[in-house]
Amino acid sequence: MKENHNPNHPPGSGAETPEEISRRKFFRDISLIVGGCTALGLAVPAVGFIFAPLTRRAPNVWRTVGKVEAFKIGETVDVHYEDASPVPWAGVTARTAAWLRRETADQFVAFAINCTHLGCPVRWLPQARLFMCPCHGGVFYENGAVAAGPPERPLTRYPVRVVNGEVQIETAPVPIMT
Ligand code: FES
Repeated sequence: MKENHNPNHPPGSGAETPEEISRRKFFRDISLIVGGCTALGLAVPAVGFIFAPLTRRAPNVWRTVGKVEAFKIGETVDVHYEDASPVPWAGVTARTAAWLRRETADQFVAFAINCTHLGCPVRWLPQARLFMCPCHGGVFYENGAVAAGPPERPLTRYPVRVVNGEVQIETAPVPIMT
């Protein structure tokens, strides 16, 4: 059996020499640094994965909303389509809508369904030929211009095109006041 010849550290005394204390402190510091680096290495990709969709701009894509003959000239109707959401788990929240009016045989105009004040969905009132927002009383003329209430900007228009007899709307992020 090996004997302890250190006069400053008699066996069974529980006391540690300055060298032992400093070695233990060194290993403890190394453990903390390695542990911290490992945690950081795992946390950075996880945080990026969670928050990346918030910073990534949704792409604009064309969505078909129906055949040309399905829309009557002069009528404004709501059409529904899949948003260009960048997150695959968006589910039903990726469903969006727009107000579409066929103005002539081959001309369409589309308005965002969201009020430009705080984003509430506006309703089309065919008798009054106005868009009304139920949240704070915003009113828009049939061309989307502000008629009354807190909105400062007209209803956002979406590009519309006809391809092979089908009406398509170009998607865009929800247009609200920022
Ligand atoms: S959200 Fe439409 S008026 Fe406020």
